[in-house]
Amino acid sequence: MSSIVLMRILESAPDRYDAGMRVLSLGAVPRAHRAVAAAAVWRPGVRVLEIGCGTGALTELLVDAGAELVAFDQNPEMIDRARKRLDGSANDRVTFQDSTAAEMDRYTQQSFDAVAAGLCFSEMSASERAYVLRQVYRVLKDGGRLVICDEVEPTSHWQKIVHLAVRIPAGLLTWVITGTTTRALVDPCGELRRAGFRICSEERSWLGTLAVIAAERAT
Ligand SMILES: C[S@@+](CC[C@H](N)C(=O)[O-])C[C@H]1O[C@@H](n2cnc3c(N)ncnc32)[C@H](O)[C@@H]1O
Repeated sequence: MSSIVLMRILESAPDRYDAGMRVLSLGAVPRAHRAVAAAAVWRPGVRVLEIGCGTGALTELLVDAGAELVAFDQNPEMIDRARKRLDGSANDRVTFQDSTAAEMDRYTQQSFDAVAAGLCFSEMSASERAYVLRQVYRVLKDGGRLVICDEVEPTSHWQKIVHLAVRIPAGLLTWVITGTTTRALVDPCGELRRAGFRICSEERSWLGTLAVIAAERAT
């Protein structure tokens, strides 16, 4: 809970990223990945765009569920790790791209059934997220799905207190080591609604700080 900000440190060591995230989140992140894959791939052959695929933990689940996938990330080391992980029989169903979300205008309008993103929106500024959400809306087909899991600010008072007590020192440590940080999403459903999405479900875990949100592109 909240210590997920430490993932920024793990990103500089992709070899240890997956094990680190499992331990940091006490298994909550792998569970959230499974929920995202289940919601994003509702039938085999669904065409999915994955934003910020990292080491490919979610990518692998999406491919296993039967997706045809384009996965991109701005960090070449993470992408290398993801390529190695998926190297094998699934190779023909996933295309990896070393790319940033700012380049999403390269994808054709209404060309994907679903867009998935794991722990990625919390690494973006609000204006970057607004741009990305506009692009997600553009590339999704009518009725297409956006499914994300990410760190969110809890809503209840006591959870907020615990969240701050853990997050402030963890965030400072991350800033000192990496010079960057993440921002827990304050109103993710509101941001998605304002971008033209209808919220289908929101599940929270880990003391209300990790959300899996499934939304549909309203027409
Ligand atoms: C915390 S990791 C999560 C990786 C993976 N999605 C997962 O759930 O395990 C966040 C990833 O998003 C990528 N990322 C963050 N902002 C991005 C952007 N604007 N464009 C592309 N990738 C981005 C980072 O490089 C990193 O690999």
